[in-house]
Amino acid sequence: MLTTLIYRSHFNSSVTFSSMFNMVAQANDHNSSVGVTGILLFDGTHFFQLLEGPEDAVLQVYKKISQDKRHDNLVELMQDFSPGRKFGKVGMELFDLRQHDEESVLQAVLERGTSPYKLTYDDRALQFMCTFVEGREKENYLEIPSKDHWRFVADNSNAASLSDSDINVTEYSFAFQPIIDPLSQHILSYAAEMRTVNGGSASSYFSAISDEEMYQVDLRSKAIAFRQASRLGLGEKTLTVKLLPMSLIAMPDAVEFLLNEIALSGLVAEQVVIAITENGFISRDEAFIKAIRRLKQSGMRLAIDDFGAGLGGLLVLTRFQPEKITIDKDIVSDVHRQGPKQAIVQAIIKFCTSLEISVIASGVEKTEEWMWLEAAGVNNFQGHLFSEPQLNRFPTIRWPEMNDG
Ligand SMILES: Cc1cc2nc3c(=O)[nH]c(=O)nc-3n(C[C@H](O)[C@H](O)[C@H](O)COP(=O)(O)O)c2cc1C
Repeated sequence: MLTTLIYRSHFNSSVTFSSMFNMVAQANDHNSSVGVTGILLFDGTHFFQLLEGPEDAVLQVYKKISQDKRHDNLVELMQDFSPGRKFGKVGMELFDLRQHDEESVLQAVLERGTSPYKLTYDDRALQFMCTFVEGREKENYLEIPSKDHWRFVADNSNAASLSDSDINVTEYSFAFQPIIDPLSQHILSYAAEMRTVNGGSASSYFSAISDEEMYQVDLRSKAIAFRQASRLGLGEKTLTVKLLPMSLIAMPDAVEFLLNEIALSGLVAEQVVIAITENGFISRDEAFIKAIRRLKQSGMRLAIDDFGAGLGGLLVLTRFQPEKITIDKDIVSDVHRQGPKQAIVQAIIKFCTSLEISVIASGVEKTEEWMWLEAAGVNNFQGHLFSEPQLNRFPTIRWPEMNDG
């Protein structure tokens, strides 16, 4: 199968540009031998490269290119598939945009098209190339330093454990993970996730009981989460608890139950964030909309969890707006290397800014993911990079600190 892969990257200025000519000659031989076309553009700071050929060969070449120290901040913009070769000649060609005008570069590229109808102006690959040649989109190139720029320093000052008498009350318990603003070293909230007493997932517990029981347990378990968080020293921070949307509908007086338990735990409604997964939203269901209104009237805050992973996300936002949105971990994963993920995160940030919704990135594991998201404007994070969720405990937090020099 033929594939077209496009990436951009940042030239490592400690390398002389003239040394690139040798590389291009070698790459030309190599690409020719494996049936790959490589069109490389350089604007004085950034590379833009289109690779076309058999999928395995393109991916192998790209893997080597990604490890090359002559450039960094590689972002894959597109990988697409086509029935035939669009960028004719195999090998490798470098266009230094500082020495060609826009028209002549695009003309030269078009001349490489095997046949005119295969390479038209609505071809996405060619559109990406035009955008680079014309220097558009540069404001969206968020570039980050090497991850060695940061070290992570463990802080136990907020860590706390529950006593046995607070744990052994039911068959389930909670794991707590902080949601933080790493740069200001501020804890905003603790997310409480239901677990079995041995630390197993809530879904393994729920799968053994009926739906009706599940909604009951889901709702009633929040009483334990409130009490445990209060004992662990929640103070004025917020507590984020997941709730199945059906628990709000199926259990009459669900909101009153929660309010009562919040008060019994010595918390206030405004510090409780009810997180509902996007997949669970039933945006057309009037009973659900009414339950959401009651929840909001009670003073509790609403968050949409795993935003971007479900089905109804954008439609839901036309019916009501939550206080917070948590971007799904699969979108966060490797966001610093993936153009489509970057475009989606930037769009989420834009509409959340317009709607005064705060954005949290969840499942952050790599320093580079965090750095890219900070550069894009996300300030609030949850993830193993900073702290693992821990059963019956407020865990240790690793705060980032800049390395000197
Ligand atoms: C911007 C840039 C583009 C490159 N494009 C290609 C290419 O299209 N084909 C290729 O074989 N090598 C390309 N290289 C060089 C590879 O990264 C690598 O050095 C080369 O494949 C030799 O790898 P090896 O010594 O491990 O065999 C490129 C390097 C850079 C910095």
